[in-house]
Amino acid sequence: MAHGLLVTDSFILKDMYNINLKAYLDLTCTIKDNLEACIQLLEIGVEVDVIIIQNHINQEKTAQGIYNYLLARDFDDIPIIVLGEEKEISKYSGVQVISNCYEVKNVIQATAKVLGISAKDMAEKNMPDFFPIPINIFSHLDYTDFNIYHLTGKMVDPRYLKVIEQGTNPRNKVKQYQSEGVSQLYIKSEHRLKFTNVFSKNITRRLQDTKMTTNQRVESTQIGYDFVAQHIEEIEKVEDLIEISKQCVNSMNLIIDDQPIIKNLLQQLFSNQTSYAFKHCQLNAFIAAHIINEIDWGTKEHIEKLTFIAFYHDIHLTTKEMVIINSDEELKNSALSEEDKDTVRQHAYKTSLLIQQVPRAPLGADTIIKQHHGMIGGIGFEGKKFSNNLSPLAIVFIIAEEYAAAILKVEKITNNVPSYEEFNHAKTLDYLYAKYPNSNYVRSIETLKKIKL
Ligand SMILES: [Fe+2]
Ligand SMILES: [Fe+2]
Repeated sequence: MAHGLLVTDSFILKDMYNINLKAYLDLTCTIKDNLEACIQLLEIGVEVDVIIIQNHINQEKTAQGIYNYLLARDFDDIPIIVLGEEKEISKYSGVQVISNCYEVKNVIQATAKVLGISAKDMAEKNMPDFFPIPINIFSHLDYTDFNIYHLTGKMVDPRYLKVIEQGTNPRNKVKQYQSEGVSQLYIKSEHRLKFTNVFSKNITRRLQDTKMTTNQRVESTQIGYDFVAQHIEEIEKVEDLIEISKQCVNSMNLIIDDQPIIKNLLQQLFSNQTSYAFKHCQLNAFIAAHIINEIDWGTKEHIEKLTFIAFYHDIHLTTKEMVIINSDEELKNSALSEEDKDTVRQHAYKTSLLIQQVPRAPLGADTIIKQHHGMIGGIGFEGKKFSNNLSPLAIVFIIAEEYAAAILKVEKITNNVPSYEEFNHAKTLDYLYAKYPNSNYVRSIETLKKIKL
């Protein structure tokens, strides 16, 4: 059995190639997400038959890096397949470039060739496998182009039962499975990429529907948010993700306009069982909009910019445990893995870099995101002296976020109705005045006196 090294930081590419290379070529891949980790693996003598590697990862010229390394080490008999445009090394023998990294077929054919697997061998392989999709994604489709399967039996003897026919509306069946506690359903893995495209189109269309109730809008926006967060590393490459984000930001603004009272907004958020990350974003956006409406220099454009920022600011944080951290102390004492701690420590900085790649992002949004924990450089959390020198909108956002966090801390929910007996508005304001004594912060805090709870 052949062994490959797949080097990519892309969520979609990892899944797509790992599954397909195994299914079509019986190639087992070790996956690494940067050049250094890939070199470390080769250094300890792991033998690989082929390296399938993304052209660039972040700023790193990953494919070129591995080529130079193999050459220097006389390992240059290992074939390299590059995912994405790469001019520098494409002329060398042993290097093949697949300029569209989503062309599964071409990558599989190129890999088959270097492994000496013929088309006939490929046809005789047992295909296909099934690919899991979180069930809430299906609940959003009016129509499915694919058969949908349910996994029954044990993992040692899995059976995939076709439960929803292609060409039908899957909603009722999906609801039924959700009520039974099923968390994912399956599609055939060869449909995975097409499914992502269909989903993107569908959610974009729904978000543009002006007749939706607020409740439906909250549900759709949250699903859009979670989808973008799940695929965030693709944002530079996948046009659909930018479109979904744009529609989500518009939609968040509509939700704010629709719900002038926090209590109503929270009821919508809780009755939809939205993710904590989305509740946090929508509530931040709502409170930031309130501050801007009350502050003397605020404009509609500022509100739109802050909603955009609310949508993206914590997009790298995947769990509630990560989102709620607001100081170096809390980070240190958290039960998160070292890797997650690093993500939290660097999320403001990392997201600001990402925003620079988002087409038509509002001017200066990257700087505000970088500063949203009070640090000019975007790494870690300000503990004491919150400076007046931060961007004025970053200051508004910091105050909005702290107030929102105080509300969400009091999560007592009975029959989907959140109660706030323990949320103490006056105490929260006292706390904010003490923590942020500088004048620019005080101006934002003052406006909260008028917020409609
Ligand atoms: Fe946040
Ligand atoms: Fe944050």
